[in-house]
Amino acid sequence: SSSLIDDAKRRAAYKAVDEYIPPTTKVVGIGSGSTVVYVIERILQRGKEANNNVVFIPSSFQSKELIVQHGLTLGDVDAYPEIDVTIDGADEVDEHLNAIKGGGGCHLREKVIAEAAKKFIIVADHRKNSKVLGENWTRGVPIEVIPFAYTRVIMALKTLGCGNPVLRMAKAKAGPVITDNGNFVIDAHFGLIHDPDDLMRKIKMLTGVVEVGLFVRLAQIAYFGNENGSVTEKK
Ligand code: A5P
Repeated sequence: SSSLIDDAKRRAAYKAVDEYIPPTTKVVGIGSGSTVVYVIERILQRGKEANNNVVFIPSSFQSKELIVQHGLTLGDVDAYPEIDVTIDGADEVDEHLNAIKGGGGCHLREKVIAEAAKKFIIVADHRKNSKVLGENWTRGVPIEVIPFAYTRVIMALKTLGCGNPVLRMAKAKAGPVITDNGNFVIDAHFGLIHDPDDLMRKIKMLTGVVEVGLFVRLAQIAYFGNENGSVTEKK
């Protein structure tokens, strides 16, 4: 049930905060999605005192709102280009800790915040824990594109082996999803992705592509909450 999944997400998030945000931490990157809500929940449990000297860097409109609404100190990556630790969710993680991200359309800023961090930690429920990318995540690789170029990028993705690239459409409005950066998102299926680094490079070379939701060799560790209450650690 969804509450078992929520508990799994919560346990993974709590573990990551407990292990990777020691009292000496000064700058924390906050990812996006439903699991990150529990990261914030755990951070708040540390108390005002503990969080007073910590600056939080958001990766999306959602995480900025989370930080501000809970009275945490908001920073940005221009002021804090070196982050101690970033904790984020993922759509799928392979056996080498490569990840698909961008199910929520936030992967461009998420990647900036991940690369800026000395430690990048992934938190998720067990459904995201795969051997190979594409095994469990069926919604394809999210690709942020400049609106002007999206049709050309869709054509080019087909030559890269994607059968049916789709422009992601908004749910509550007629029209495409618009990212935090004013761009579109294409979801592209490639089946099992055995070489995410190669695929990422090829997609990134396409004119008009801003960022690919493949995070290659960025994560230090991933925590997956299981339904039996345990947390699987992958590193
Ligand atoms: C946002 O663009 C994504 O990369 C999210 O980090 C990812 O979808 C994880 O979200 P959940 O924690 O809701 O699964």
